[in-house]
Amino acid sequence: MKFHRLIIFVIPIAAGTGVLFINSFAAGSPRADAVRGAGIVATGADYGVVACARCHAFDGTADGSGAFPKLSGMSAYYLEKQLRDFASGSRSDPIMSAIARKMKPEDIADVSAYYSGVHATPTPPPAATPELLALGTRLATVGDEDRKVQACEGCHGPHGRGEDPAIPPLAGQYAHYIAFQMRMWRMGYRKNDANQQMATIAKRLGPQDIEAIGLYFERVPQPDFPKDRRQP
Ligand code: HEC
Ligand code: HEC
Repeated sequence: MKFHRLIIFVIPIAAGTGVLFINSFAAGSPRADAVRGAGIVATGADYGVVACARCHAFDGTADGSGAFPKLSGMSAYYLEKQLRDFASGSRSDPIMSAIARKMKPEDIADVSAYYSGVHATPTPPPAATPELLALGTRLATVGDEDRKVQACEGCHGPHGRGEDPAIPPLAGQYAHYIAFQMRMWRMGYRKNDANQQMATIAKRLGPQDIEAIGLYFERVPQPDFPKDRRQP
């Protein structure tokens, strides 16, 4: 498989540099071991934890299809929270819930520390009409007062770069995945957002709005997150 070749090269690199990363990212578990996390990402664990790289790739870019989210650019805090939410059922997905329930607390902390330090490979965004992009840009940056829809970037930060540690970046994320999450909130399968902030917004948007916003964000380049995120 495609990622096997990557792993051979990346593990020694991660082993060398992981130590530098570990304490430098926003609010993950203090004793997380990113090097051990890299091992789980590459090969999984024999108690039912499937190698994350199979779907998310070793650098967090996933396979380009948009079925699996990019994990690059997210804080360790956010990644850990999602894995715990999949395990508890406040977020539900047949694949991820099964995997997260098998993970030990230290596995969750370690893979999150690892993925919070990776740089994704840029992927080409899907085609979009100028009309859809204009709609997506408007909703993301200005919102829609008539429908009481707040601008996404009001919370997700300028250019969707995220607000550490709790609000994830949307920049560069797959449009398909963004739209899918909005539908999950609307239908109540994802209910892990504090005060239902996202569920409320998702219910006010139609299918075309959701598609347009995803197409906008997938086109925004991901900043150089790990370096930018380093704490003083
Ligand atoms: C067989 C494919 C597959 C494997 C293996 C897999 N994932 Fe996932 N992962 C998914 C899918 C699909 C989603 C999207 C779920 C949804 O729509 O809510 C996801 C979502 C996630 C999310 C949520 C990301 C976000 O932006 O909120 C995290 C975190 C995550 N996976 C971490 C992991 C980790 C860590 C591993 C390895 C221990 C792993 N995944 C293994 C398929 C996979
Ligand atoms: C009031 C603040 C707020 C606003 C406004 C907001 N969000 Fe969010 N959003 C959040 C929070 C908080 C989370 C993290 C929820 C969690 O912990 O899982 C989130 C998560 C998400 C996610 C999940 C990302 C992932 O990786 O799984 C998507 C997609 C998303 N928001 C899209 C949007 C879009 C599109 C808009 C604009 C229409 C928007 N958000 C506006 C607060 C907000």
